[in-house]
Amino acid sequence: MTFQLSTHEGETKPELYATLSSQLHSLLEGERDLIANAANLSSLLFHSLPDINWAGFYLLKGNELVLGPFQGKPACVRIALGNGVCGTAAQQRQTILVDNVNDFPGHIACDSASNSEIVVPLMMGERLIGVLDIDSPSLSRFDEQDAKGLNDLVNIFVRATDFV
Ligand code: SME
Repeated sequence: MTFQLSTHEGETKPELYATLSSQLHSLLEGERDLIANAANLSSLLFHSLPDINWAGFYLLKGNELVLGPFQGKPACVRIALGNGVCGTAAQQRQTILVDNVNDFPGHIACDSASNSEIVVPLMMGERLIGVLDIDSPSLSRFDEQDAKGLNDLVNIFVRATDFV
């Protein structure tokens, strides 16, 4: 299989996320493996979203989040529910946008280049699977359009993937 990443010059954010949704459908078609699908979604995001330095997953194991497939620099492996941006989004089951990570109490710094962050919980019905985490070197990189677009992508991923 070859997969062509399209270029996104001149696209608005909603257009970009619509393109990514359609690319993600093709990318995940016929494959339900968690590691494979999470790895491909993190790569799609890392190579398609402008101005980011980390994109990847933390998956719920017992009562903590454990690092999953990602693109970017090596990151901290285990995050307790309620800790950092990831653990807070997981505990609240809500998307969290952080304009300046230095202002977020308890933020866990993995890459000192990160200045803003968005974390989207992965939910299968009522069940928490983990979170999608994206970091940017720019302040206030993420907005409600990113939150909407990333939630759409996460829903496609969750529906297309088996969780044991
Ligand atoms: N900043 C996150 C930790 C994960 S890294 O950004 C990859 C947090 O505060 O939960």
